[in-house]
Amino acid sequence: MLDVFGDYSARDPFTALADAVRACPYQAAAENGGPYALRAADVRKLLTTGDVWAQRSADRRLAGLSERDAARRTELKRFLSHWPVFSDGEYHRRARRTVVRLLRGTVTPELAATCTELFEARLATPPGERFDWLEEVARPTGREVIATLVGRADAARLIGLSEAVMDELAAAHLDMTLIDRALEAVAELRSWLETARTDPPTPVVAKLAKVWDDPSFGPEAATAYLTQMITGAYDPTTTALCVVGDRLGAQALLQLPVAVLREEVFRLGTPFRFATRYARRPVSVGPYRLEPDDRINLCLGTANLDPEAFPDPLEIRDRGKGIRPLSFGAGKHYCPGALLARTVLEALLTSLQKARVVFEAEHVEREPELPMLRYRKLLGSLVPAA
Ligand code: HEM
Repeated sequence: MLDVFGDYSARDPFTALADAVRACPYQAAAENGGPYALRAADVRKLLTTGDVWAQRSADRRLAGLSERDAARRTELKRFLSHWPVFSDGEYHRRARRTVVRLLRGTVTPELAATCTELFEARLATPPGERFDWLEEVARPTGREVIATLVGRADAARLIGLSEAVMDELAAAHLDMTLIDRALEAVAELRSWLETARTDPPTPVVAKLAKVWDDPSFGPEAATAYLTQMITGAYDPTTTALCVVGDRLGAQALLQLPVAVLREEVFRLGTPFRFATRYARRPVSVGPYRLEPDDRINLCLGTANLDPEAFPDPLEIRDRGKGIRPLSFGAGKHYCPGALLARTVLEALLTSLQKARVVFEAEHVEREPELPMLRYRKLLGSLVPAA
């Protein structure tokens, strides 16, 4: 059974996820409502069927809250409902088209070159010299990705604000302090965009300015797309880069092509471990029967470690052209930032192969929550990949 609300800071979450799907492919609803589907086949089917969708039904957690707390939570949920990932139907189609347009042109040879320069400088660190891979490799690269979207001057500040929103989204339990902090951050992101749109630092912000001025979208939607792009890009990309430092051994690095390594790192790491859906019509999931509006939690993190789909799931190996991992989702919400994330990870893997070194982690600290994989510390050193 998967301990959904457990503290994973001192536990190996990869093994916990792999064991859970092997032992028990379905799990009953927890406090946030809705059963869990853990197997790759079920998760893929539900991500690509019209029986469920991403738009939230009534918020059943409001009942236990005071009037003030319920109002704050509703305000945050209203903002999140503008995000492509939490919407569906006609609005989602328009929002997704807009975000795809916003991201067009962000994957450039310059971005890959800047990341490669950064990696080559770090990989020149003498073998055995201890450093924090998170601080020295993953975070600076994540900042480069955000700088492509919003410009270098404010990238760090905007990442800080988006982290407050991500902390709330990643929290296993309802926490009013996190909700209040997320709302304050959203207000600051909106006021940043209001000013930045008058002298846009990047083409992405110039396009966001048009969304802001378009009465069929408006400031709320523009702020929502800005926020989803930053939270959607920074944390999972930083995490994937950390998974390379945490899990990639010399043998795999030297024997496998970069494209295979890249997909295996995303599969093993699966930074976003859950996708939530709501039934649109009666549907059966294993032993559970969902009625319209019922919630179902699709566990991407276990699906990617399901031995039926990925034998010896904790190993990094060439899995051929068979089943594709679900790290970026599937179906109509498939991640539009996947190319950006893949480009950055590929640059790191290529630099490691060229330098013929791997990172040997000695001390790993992760954030406690299960819904997202995020690192706190990754101390270790480079060793020659002999
Ligand atoms: C390692 C990096 C990344 C991972 C693992 C990841 C993962 C995902 C997943 C699993 C979904 C689908 C969620 C669902 O179906 O409920 C998604 C959607 C999305 N991602 Fe990513 N993502 C990454 C990078 C990015 C980047 C770089 C951006 C933008 C700059 C981005 C923006 C989005 C957006 C806007 C959506 C919503 C799409 C829609 O609903 O139509 N992501 N991502």
